Amino acid sequence: MSTAKKEYKRITTKTLVDMKQNGEKISMLTAYDFTMAKIVDSAGIDVILVGDSASNVMAGHETTLPITLDQMIYHASSVVRAIERSLVVVDLPFGSYQSDPKEALRSAIRIMKESGAHAVKLEGGKEIKESIKRILNAGIPVMGHLGLTPQSIYKFGTYTVRAKEEEEAEQLKEDALMLEKTGCFAVVLEKVPAKLAEEVAKSISIPVIGIGAGGGVDGQVLVTHDMLGMTHEFSPRFLRRYLDLYNEMTKAFQGYISDVKSGDFPNSKEQY
Ligand code: KIV
Repeated sequence: MSTAKKEYKRITTKTLVDMKQNGEKISMLTAYDFTMAKIVDSAGIDVILVGDSASNVMAGHETTLPITLDQMIYHASSVVRAIERSLVVVDLPFGSYQSDPKEALRSAIRIMKESGAHAVKLEGGKEIKESIKRILNAGIPVMGHLGLTPQSIYKFGTYTVRAKEEEEAEQLKEDALMLEKTGCFAVVLEKVPAKLAEEVAKSISIPVIGIGAGGGVDGQVLVTHDMLGMTHEFSPRFLRRYLDLYNEMTKAFQGYISDVKSGDFPNSKEQY
């Protein structure tokens, strides 16, 4: 295992598998628009996820279920126009792949063709195996997503940690193996015990990217708006905040309002 950081001009699905083999951790963040994607990409992130969390973060919905395929394509196209280096992965939204493999393939093709993204992500295990196969057969790279899969929130009934019980943990291990064997290039594990996540990461050759899954996996993903502290009502234990943008932005807006009201803005140098 080498600790030297390799410089990659462009991240591909193969780069991620190489990174796992070399023991280099993978960094992944979400983006839904051009401006954010440009900053995240130039900061050197490996993977940008156009997550269906856009449904919560951008549109204010309570869950990820309402976002549509057209809306995901709009967000993904904006992100793709900004990036120079990162791999762009796009979530297939709820209702665009669950009914049958043909529908799943049609949705994945629309995302790839209309947005220019590099890969798609689907939530689920054995129940979506045929859809994953169909998408892979068309040459579209697939990232899996197991554990707390937010599109199934009404089945779970809660956002608490998944796979704490033996039966669910065994099923998750089987599903991870299936995703590897079927040909997925990586898998996201969301909110599962760290010990289980590490065991899964050690048992498969494709990268396991965790969110609330501990440090024993091959990479980490966070929702950018959460790690920047823009969303301050949401405080799960796994979230590390790198900024307090909610308060910083509030101060900036209040400064602007006050300057406008007082007539201080614009001053003589800020006009023509
Ligand atoms: O939609 C999303 O942002 C995600 C991540 C939380 C993994 O799926």
